Amino acid sequence: MPESAVEIARQLSEPERRILQLLGSADRAWTLDEVAAQAGFGSENEAYSSASWLQRKGLVEISETAQTLVGLGADGVTYARDGFPERRVYQYVGRRAHGVPLAELKREFPAGLVDIALSWWKRKGLGTIERTTGDTALRANPAPPPAEDEDLLRRLAAGPLVGGATVAEQELREQFGKSYEQLRARPGLVEPRTVKRRSLRPTELGREAARAGPLQAGLVGEVTPEMVQSGAWRGREFQAYDVRTEPPRILAAKPHPLLQIIDEVRSIFTQLGFEEIEEEYVQSAFWNMDALFIPQDHPAREMQDTLYLARPPTLDVPQDLVERISRVHENGGDTKSRGWGQPLDAKESRRALLRTHTTVGTIRYLARHPQPPVRVFSIGRVFRNETMDATHLPEFHQIEGIATEKGADFPMLLGILQEFYRRLGFPKLRWRPAFFPYTEPSMEVEVWTGQKWMELGGCGIFRPEVTQPFGVPTPVLAWGLGLERLAMMRLGLKDIRDLYVSDLEWLRNQPLL
Ligand code: PHE
Repeated sequence: MPESAVEIARQLSEPERRILQLLGSADRAWTLDEVAAQAGFGSENEAYSSASWLQRKGLVEISETAQTLVGLGADGVTYARDGFPERRVYQYVGRRAHGVPLAELKREFPAGLVDIALSWWKRKGLGTIERTTGDTALRANPAPPPAEDEDLLRRLAAGPLVGGATVAEQELREQFGKSYEQLRARPGLVEPRTVKRRSLRPTELGREAARAGPLQAGLVGEVTPEMVQSGAWRGREFQAYDVRTEPPRILAAKPHPLLQIIDEVRSIFTQLGFEEIEEEYVQSAFWNMDALFIPQDHPAREMQDTLYLARPPTLDVPQDLVERISRVHENGGDTKSRGWGQPLDAKESRRALLRTHTTVGTIRYLARHPQPPVRVFSIGRVFRNETMDATHLPEFHQIEGIATEKGADFPMLLGILQEFYRRLGFPKLRWRPAFFPYTEPSMEVEVWTGQKWMELGGCGIFRPEVTQPFGVPTPVLAWGLGLERLAMMRLGLKDIRDLYVSDLEWLRNQPLL
């Protein structure tokens, strides 16, 4: 006997062993209900769960066949007890010498019953129907032919007829042919229903394991407190764990991978001492752009880049602030800047749009909280009028943040971002000079993906034109980073759209991060 069969036998659980022992006792296929009953399981489901483990271990084969089982319908139950309608009428009529008028039968029996009897009366050779003036009468045939269908129904109702507790339609057809078809043809008498039947058969390895010593010896699968107390465990052989068995696949609900990454980003910034802020998607051009010293003739303000709202077309903006910022745009106001040489067009400032960056949330927060220290971040959706392709979406997320305190400087900004990406698993960064109207200096941050450098976002220190109007006394370090690209790197995706229209199988295979 191969060692592996012995090994396998040693690793079987107690229920598995019961099944295998049963299957080993005769070389045939066993139906699952047989196995459940004879191997001492509470239900077929219970037996099936152990049987499928045996299947996974290569010890049994489970095959499925669809079978039509027959039970009695509601009328079938009544007829089996009280007799068929035509039989009851026959018995009533049979005692009379003359035909019995329908009117009388309908007084004696429910009308529906008489109608049914009438429709079978001649077909079953129970008698004749006489139509005299005014009424129809039934006359009974003294020796009607045998009623096999009625016998069959009674036998079905009386209990196991063929096979077991349930009757396979095929067996009924084979054994009772015409009389079964007759029952079948009448509604409500018998009810065939199709069930899947599973049957088990041991494989070659299964048969060997069934013969193996450990299976016969009765291994202990579970050590009970009683066994420990009484010492009964001594000298017994125990079931071994099979650590190589694949567990069943559990398709449990879990957050989408993108949400998991959002949570991770959130927890990193929280651990670094930042507080999360949120802002609305719909903003005025004033907050989204003017307050950030983006000139009103900046190309990014064009319709083809920014999604403006038709309803409402405009939003209220605080008049005093607009005037203050307008002076900064015109000539720098008190910021020592020369400005853009152009005051704000108030109509343009009021235009409603979908925020194009989360920096709008930052500046609104800063306007309300100008006093250092400030350390806040946000993870939010932004909208741009972009054509969708493998690397662009019209909606995506930005990881935004600011830090301001006395002495905040550029190395501190780089340190924060360096630490953020390091904690996310991207320790290698590089910085490239960039331009944003609201920061000076401005940088783009790139991370090393292992294969190439990938641009992930912008950062810098807010210009005085941005901070001075709100009275912020200290340098404000700011950044806005892409989330989706980061997620693509983490998840190994090549197409950004896969994040939002995810393949189900891919989703199922994603681990909980
Ligand atoms: N708002 C910029 C963007 O949309 C990113 C950025 C934020 C740059 C803050 C500098 C400071 O890409």
